[in-house]
Amino acid sequence: MDVDVSKFKDCRVLVIGDLMIDEYLWGDVNRISPEAPVPVVAVKKEESTLGGSGNVINNLAALGAKVFAAGVIGTGKNGNMLIKRLRYLAVDAGGVIQEHGRPTTRKTRIIAAHQHVLRIDRETKKEISSETMNKIAWFIEKVIIKTDAVIISDYGKGLITKALMKKVVALAKKHGNIIIADPKGLDYSKYSGVTLITPNRKEAALAAGVEITNNSSLMTAGAKIIDCAGIEKLLITCGKDGMALFERDKKPYMIRAEARQVFDVSGAGDTVVAVLALALASGASFKASAAVANTAAGIVVGKVGTATVSVKELTAAIMPRANPLSVKLRKK
Ligand SMILES: Nc1ncnc2c1ncn2[C@@H]1O[C@H](COP(=O)(O)OP(=O)(O)OP(=O)(O)O)[C@@H](O)[C@H]1O
Ligand SMILES: [Mg+2]
Repeated sequence: MDVDVSKFKDCRVLVIGDLMIDEYLWGDVNRISPEAPVPVVAVKKEESTLGGSGNVINNLAALGAKVFAAGVIGTGKNGNMLIKRLRYLAVDAGGVIQEHGRPTTRKTRIIAAHQHVLRIDRETKKEISSETMNKIAWFIEKVIIKTDAVIISDYGKGLITKALMKKVVALAKKHGNIIIADPKGLDYSKYSGVTLITPNRKEAALAAGVEITNNSSLMTAGAKIIDCAGIEKLLITCGKDGMALFERDKKPYMIRAEARQVFDVSGAGDTVVAVLALALASGASFKASAAVANTAAGIVVGKVGTATVSVKELTAAIMPRANPLSVKLRKK
């Protein structure tokens, strides 16, 4: 693989996306509530982490990259905590706007006796105000010159509008930045002009209007998205089946998932976009970058929770495997 992971720490990436807080409450259930026929969870442990585009940022920071963040959150204590978390990762959070009247997206999971019993979402999908849009656009304009790559991490929470995408694409073109978009929704023409998009198989099927059941329907869906969305490159991630890279007028390139024990697949897509951006920014080809992103995602699915991968782990995973025969011969 022609990817130099040691260069990742020198990369500077702008992440524009839907920031969230992932909250976990663990507890025990010993009784049914006297108020209604529901279990009472006695909370024993609480934790909160950065989610949504914040998890992409976690992945970039874990690989030593400098991150610039743009997004929208609320003005309350959850918004303040989110900014504190970003600062702790040494992220330039100047593009994270606290919009009045907007909640900070928060997903609370309640886990009782190892069972996920409930999730509570606090969020809005309302489009950002024009004032927020102007502030974000101003930040992007200011920092894009300092960055090597732009990631759009769209979770459909009202930030990534057509108007904002138009602005970002024009600025990235002007400064020669690559843009990788993890898309949401059905209309991918919104991402027209970006370098590459990374839907998963289900999202690609919905956007193409093609049911993906085998390799041939995967090819049909990929070709349709490339044709209709005004995008040059498309990486469809296929969970345990790896990924498929589509480039206009080229034969699709299939990458098999790395065989390993799987603990938690959530957040694997965030690892894919983060590593793709760093590999491309450090000069690797699209095929090699996709392959290293696949290896990185294979490592995080082997960890519990939405996890990240380190330079050390990734370097070890892509090192050419020692030939057992040559090792034996040397020993003699
Ligand atoms: N079960 C698995 N075994 C090995 N690799 C996996 C597995 N699941 C996911 N991966 C790796 O992670 C990549 C992304 O996974 P997937 O296609 O599920 O993305 P996603 O649905 O966007 O993930 P998420 O939304 O949870 O972040 C895959 O292309 C593959 O490299
Ligand atoms: Mg995804």
